[in-house]
Amino acid sequence: MSLILAFETSCDETGVAIVRDGREVLANEVASQIDIHREFGGVVPEIASRQHTKIISQLTQKALADAEAAHGGPIEIDAIAATLGPGLSGSLFVGVSFAKALAFGWQKPFVPVHHIEGHIFSAFLGETAPTFPFLALIVSGGHTQLIECAAPHQYSILSTTRDDAVGESFDKVARLLDLPYPGGPSIQKAAESGNPEAYAFPRAMREKTTLDFSYSGLKTAVLYALQQGPVDTADVAASFQAAAVDILIIKTRQALAQTGMKQLVVAGGVAANKLLRDRLAADLNCELFLPPFKYCIDNAAMIGAAADSRFAHGMISPLTATPDPGLPLSA
Ligand code: KG4
Ligand code: ZN
Repeated sequence: MSLILAFETSCDETGVAIVRDGREVLANEVASQIDIHREFGGVVPEIASRQHTKIISQLTQKALADAEAAHGGPIEIDAIAATLGPGLSGSLFVGVSFAKALAFGWQKPFVPVHHIEGHIFSAFLGETAPTFPFLALIVSGGHTQLIECAAPHQYSILSTTRDDAVGESFDKVARLLDLPYPGGPSIQKAAESGNPEAYAFPRAMREKTTLDFSYSGLKTAVLYALQQGPVDTADVAASFQAAAVDILIIKTRQALAQTGMKQLVVAGGVAANKLLRDRLAADLNCELFLPPFKYCIDNAAMIGAAADSRFAHGMISPLTATPDPGLPLSA
């Protein structure tokens, strides 16, 4: 049995979790800063790192207490993990420094984790877990990637976005429509009463010669529609969402055919989108692994799940490990 204490502070959520054997979440504290950043229409890095610093110790105490309650007695942590990158530099430093200080004080191994690897491993926190090899579609505020996951910690990135990430396009279009930050949930809600066929927004990069994504043309098409005159916000939101999701389905279908993979993991904040979840289940011929909603958006439980596997493979780091805002996904 292994117990990992994990930290995720790459952006605007302070996450502290305790995960047993990579699958069972004994504690999962997530303090969202959304209300603090909302008035600015997006995340303000300096405010984010200060807020992480302010609350990380009390969240850790709460997570330890929750885990002891779930375990039914005192627990002994085996390793301490944190997101090393990518993300906002100041925010990453808070989680990594706090985790390393605990590792130093408790004389426990430190396990750094790539944020996207965390999202991939969020699939192991569901009722049924995938088995390697599988294809992963990562859809977040900063990333839109198809990744072939050959074995634990062996990844090959098949495609990425050439411009905006899909979550970023939800956020930008929401701002155009005067819908509150974060844009994903706002657009999903506005779209509920809209007609997804009201506007024929473009589906970029349809050609089979590439698995890459592109979202900036879609955002520009929305902008042009708004410049044409008054619009029905719900119709624009629904038509945008339909196009954004369609692009993901088209490219994932191509990647499944190209790689011959039979299992698909979809993770990251946009994986919380209901239309995407419905279409993945209805339109793709594969076994689908979607993390529970609470593990789609940034959280530390997913970092704990990835760290458990790294720890089991002896992939621990010296306390000189330093956050890297542009950390590449590698073994
Ligand atoms: O993974 P995540 O929490 O943070 C990053 O690593 O970026 O993803 C945040 C992104 C934001 O762009 C947010 O608008 C989007 O996920 N998102 C959604 C939904 N919930 C969050 N996008 C579409 N539909 C949703 N329901
Ligand atoms: Zn994320």
